[in-house]
Amino acid sequence: MTQQVLVLPGDGIGPEITAEAVKVLEALNRSDNLDIVLSEDLVGGAAYDVHGVPLSDETMAKAQAADAVLLGAVGGYKWESLDISVRPEKGLLRLRSEMQLFANLRPAYLFPQLADASTLKPEIVAGLDILIVRELTGGIYFGQPRGIRTLENGERQGYNTYVYKESEIKRIAHVAFQAAMKRNKKLTSVDKANVLEVTELWREIVDVVAKEYPEVTVNHMYVDNAAMQLVFNPKQFDVMVTGNMFGDILSDEASMLTGSIGMLASASLDANNKGMYEPSHGSAPDIAGQNLANPLATILSAAMMLRYTLGREDLAVKIETAVSKVLDQGLRTGDICSAGMTQVSCSEMGDAVVAAL
Ligand code: IPM
Ligand code: MG
Repeated sequence: MTQQVLVLPGDGIGPEITAEAVKVLEALNRSDNLDIVLSEDLVGGAAYDVHGVPLSDETMAKAQAADAVLLGAVGGYKWESLDISVRPEKGLLRLRSEMQLFANLRPAYLFPQLADASTLKPEIVAGLDILIVRELTGGIYFGQPRGIRTLENGERQGYNTYVYKESEIKRIAHVAFQAAMKRNKKLTSVDKANVLEVTELWREIVDVVAKEYPEVTVNHMYVDNAAMQLVFNPKQFDVMVTGNMFGDILSDEASMLTGSIGMLASASLDANNKGMYEPSHGSAPDIAGQNLANPLATILSAAMMLRYTLGREDLAVKIETAVSKVLDQGLRTGDICSAGMTQVSCSEMGDAVVAAL
């Protein structure tokens, strides 16, 4: 059965990195009777420039109709002074919210070949394999009320609201426990329950859901401590589950354990495993258009798409094996390049992965 994949390259390095993932998918279309049709559309600043909004209703409808979405990155200097309601990031947040992609899986896996690329000592990160499960459609990112208001004394005040309903906590907890069951059966729930009531409830609900997964060992950790533990002893973690904003922050931190944020893939899933796939990094406007970016996070996101949404675990493994082979060959983009390795461009890296398939 033919499956439809909508590609939204976005801004900055987005077009360069998605082009390499598309190359890989097209190669699999030819060689492994993968049967996907890829179409492309605009998101972020690129969409704003054409439509005056960071995601048009037509593109939103196409995303809803597609089997899966592959997204590059959004944002850039050019659009930073726009009103917040039409900033590039809003396009991404609308996709996540309207597609109900509440479960964001961000695997921080260290390819053994990159143990030297991390700024941490190799013995701290060798063997690292963490899965961050980030709630993606709630929390302070979406809570109401929000805005900037003027107080009686004329001073302005910015405000956001950090909210989670029991049902939202429950469903993300189930995703995390189920992931833990397939891994090392260890779950760390990250909160700030010593200060924030919303995460006091989070902790309580995670413990309720835990009763359904007696084989999984659960511990709770305050987010400040979790940030510290991630660099102190990251291998203590198997699966981490947390809210939207803490997950945003901790996943960037965890990415550096894997050598580079250019390695961190992600899947954003709804309740039926339909999803959007994107690298966890941003649009890197400073290196955009120079063929320097690392496309591996996007290529590995395409692998996650094959695994979670398109039902082709075999091809997901095939891509991951190809990436590993390319790293064995000593090929590195600038962000992960160390002494003795061969530095390659974004497109050369994509070509090498295709060749290694
Ligand atoms: C991410 C990004 C986004 C987020 C931005 C671009 C809105 O940082 O996917 O981690 O904050 O979720
Ligand atoms: Mg982020």
